[in-house]
Amino acid sequence: MIKIIGTGRKLPERSVSNDELAAMVDTSDEWITSRTGIKNRFVCTKESLTDLAEGAARIALEKANLSPQEIEMIICPTIAGDFSFPSLACCLAQRLNVKCPAFDINAACSGFIYGLEIAESLISKYKNILIVGADMMSRLIDWNDRASCVLFGDGAGACVVTSGGALKYIRNNADANPEMLFAKSRTGNSPFTNEESDGGFAAMQGQDVYKFAVTAVGEEINLALAKLNLSAADIDYFVLHQANSRIIDGVRTRLKQPPEKFPMNIDKYANTTAATIPILLDEMIDEEKVKTGNTLMMVGFGAGMTTGTCVMVWE
Ligand code: COA
Repeated sequence: MIKIIGTGRKLPERSVSNDELAAMVDTSDEWITSRTGIKNRFVCTKESLTDLAEGAARIALEKANLSPQEIEMIICPTIAGDFSFPSLACCLAQRLNVKCPAFDINAACSGFIYGLEIAESLISKYKNILIVGADMMSRLIDWNDRASCVLFGDGAGACVVTSGGALKYIRNNADANPEMLFAKSRTGNSPFTNEESDGGFAAMQGQDVYKFAVTAVGEEINLALAKLNLSAADIDYFVLHQANSRIIDGVRTRLKQPPEKFPMNIDKYANTTAATIPILLDEMIDEEKVKTGNTLMMVGFGAGMTTGTCVMVWE
């Protein structure tokens, strides 16, 4: 069993408004805001993803009152680190001057919840585990494609996990459908294939992703509630992956719950993929929204199509 004892977040310095994007592609603040809830995002200019991961990790360690050397495992949920190899987690371990098992996992926007389940299964052997969800979608999106470039931002969110009784439920799943949302790997220059590069840009069937998200997240929430014999009213906060405010509102309306139980920050940061949930959690803790004894349900969804759901009673 685990609990979270420290959280942190780090965004790049450069902020990009919808109006700035409207000067680059055929879009408008009105279209982006009304379709997604996004007003702004942060984009790396001089920072590496390792810089963001380190920034978030150091804040989480400080809040957990731990030195980096007390970390016994580092897990980085990410779509793509600064290198194909070594992992982002190994780059982070170097920055923190830590020697311990360090590895990345890719479950796209559900990665943070996948990371929690791995931590849960290994906590009896590794005392303190650092999980840093970090992504730099600005190097994976086609900045000429208005349908995708308006949706994403860069960022990192971290948490330190140790033994405790907070985690009451966790379930990760993949409803295998890789064509719905993807970015192809680089093709290289192998002389043994004629495969041509498509640029490796993110591509998606937006409406299908939208429908998947509203349906799957609703189903996963109901599954968790049934398993724990709870109703939606028993949950203090639903901390959902921040991809689109309309997806979150759609789930919330079906559950007949008030907006304040579904915190959002998508207006500020857009979709930071594996980082959205830990960034939002860290903000909620800083704002003193999360109190001991609160029940939080965190739900991620993303490419794969993956989902990840957990329930924690805050300690
Ligand atoms: N600005 C202006 N117009 C745009 C636009 C933009 N940024 N992006 C697309 N459009 C246009 C389309 O070209 C289309 O024009 P047409 O009717 O002339 O063909 C029109 O807007 C409607 O496009 P559509 O895709 O039907 O819009 P939508 O209402 O479904 O909203 C998304 C599009 C992407 C916002 C929505 O489908 C969505 O949020 N999907 C989920 C995406 C997501 O969250 N992905 C990550 C999951 S982890």
